[in-house]
Amino acid sequence: MASPRFLQEADSISYLNQRQAAEIDEILMGPLGFCVDQLMELAGLSVATSIAEVYKPPEFNRVLAICGPGNNGGDGLVAARHLHHFGYKPFICYPKRTAKALYNGLVTQLESLSIPFLSVEDLPVDFSGDFDIIVDAIFGFSFHGSPRPPFDDLIQRLVALGDSSQKHQKSPVVVSIDIPSGWHVEEGDLSGEGIKPEMLVSLTAPKLCAKKFSGGHHFLGGRFVPQYIADKFMLDRPEYFGTSLCVRIGKPPQVDISALRENYISPEFWEDQAEADPFVQFQKWFDDAMASGLREPNAMALSTAGKDGKPSSRMVLLKGLDKDGFVWYTNYESRKAQEISQNPYAALLFHWDILNRQVRVEGSVEKVSDEESEQYFHSRPRGSQIGAIVSKQSTVIPGRQYLHQQQEELEAQYSNGSLIPKPKHWGGYRLKPESFEFWQGQTSRLHDRLCYSPEENDGKRLWKIERLCP
Ligand SMILES: Cc1cc2nc3c(=O)[nH]c(=O)nc-3n(C[C@H](O)[C@H](O)[C@H](O)COP(=O)(O)O)c2cc1C
Repeated sequence: MASPRFLQEADSISYLNQRQAAEIDEILMGPLGFCVDQLMELAGLSVATSIAEVYKPPEFNRVLAICGPGNNGGDGLVAARHLHHFGYKPFICYPKRTAKALYNGLVTQLESLSIPFLSVEDLPVDFSGDFDIIVDAIFGFSFHGSPRPPFDDLIQRLVALGDSSQKHQKSPVVVSIDIPSGWHVEEGDLSGEGIKPEMLVSLTAPKLCAKKFSGGHHFLGGRFVPQYIADKFMLDRPEYFGTSLCVRIGKPPQVDISALRENYISPEFWEDQAEADPFVQFQKWFDDAMASGLREPNAMALSTAGKDGKPSSRMVLLKGLDKDGFVWYTNYESRKAQEISQNPYAALLFHWDILNRQVRVEGSVEKVSDEESEQYFHSRPRGSQIGAIVSKQSTVIPGRQYLHQQQEELEAQYSNGSLIPKPKHWGGYRLKPESFEFWQGQTSRLHDRLCYSPEENDGKRLWKIERLCP
């Protein structure tokens, strides 16, 4: 997998002219063996994923896809189908249908999902009140000349949305696929009076007109372009993150941090569903986190405080869990280790974002046995073993070069494959829980919080479960 990278500056990306864009399609559908159906599916899917990345339901729900007669319109039809599956409510305006099997199929697929088709006459003159998102899938890079009816009028209605005199009410955002319709493929909005989309999803590579795009969100979709094309056209493309089908390019989104808000939707967590033993409950939720595809479900925040009582937190990785507690490994001379030696109590926090869950665990901490640390140390890759020796964790060093130097020396020393001894200053800690809290996000901030604390019953140690107010 490509390593994650940060936003690619718009000026370090390649832009295509109209001839190059057409040539790339010819090569893809010629020697490279793609067919138009495939390219349309990939394009439409990447448009839908780009939209879903920025505009979230329920604030953005009603989507009108205005589809032209060509491939750009087909991309719009595909995007609308995927948006339906993502939970949006799409409507289609497809006034000049193309009588080809591919397009007929796309229409049938949408009709079978009961996605409404609206005629131009059905559409409101002013789009402002009826939709949250309008997908401009009217014309693509191969269009030239002046738009003809009914598209000229539809484009004018999209232009009117950008008119500041209408800004007193919430207008839908316009998302253009590859080219804002009516723009010149290379020169952009020649008259200065064209569509001003809020989002542009470029396909394969941005076309030259995209340099003039001034909306908030520029994405690149179409994560399938073979290296052959990239080399031939000397394309400098951004890398995609993880498994995403789209990537943001250009300036970062301007966000109002105070307005960032998620509405958590989860099944409710009732007392009768909670396991009597919090370790079993933890294991259940941990298994869910594993199954959800989270990258490091074992990452947890560890908070400690030394004798001065000032808390400090950092992430560590859970490396063992049994009835005795939660185990992680670290440097015994680090800041956290010094704090634990002064005050052997700590708190762990797991946050499993996509499950709307967090788990808090608090308790006393002690070192694991030397044998346990020894065994784990030797199960790690040799590079990590060397890293543990090199790193005098939490001490000040003169620069990165210092680490490289130490690493090279140790790599040379152990290049014969001999056993790398575990350094004395490295090993594990085990937190023995005294309380657990299982939190699950719910709508309107009425979250579930089930707390476990130990109690004695008939001489038996049990766990009491109580619900806390969110
Ligand atoms: C996801 C993640 C996992 C980490 N896992 C560990 C770990 O298991 N052990 C460790 O010593 N440091 C780990 N670190 C680094 C710590 O967060 C921290 O920088 C380091 O332990 C020094 O902390 P201290 O100076 O407070 O002792 C991890 C960092 C991240 C972001």
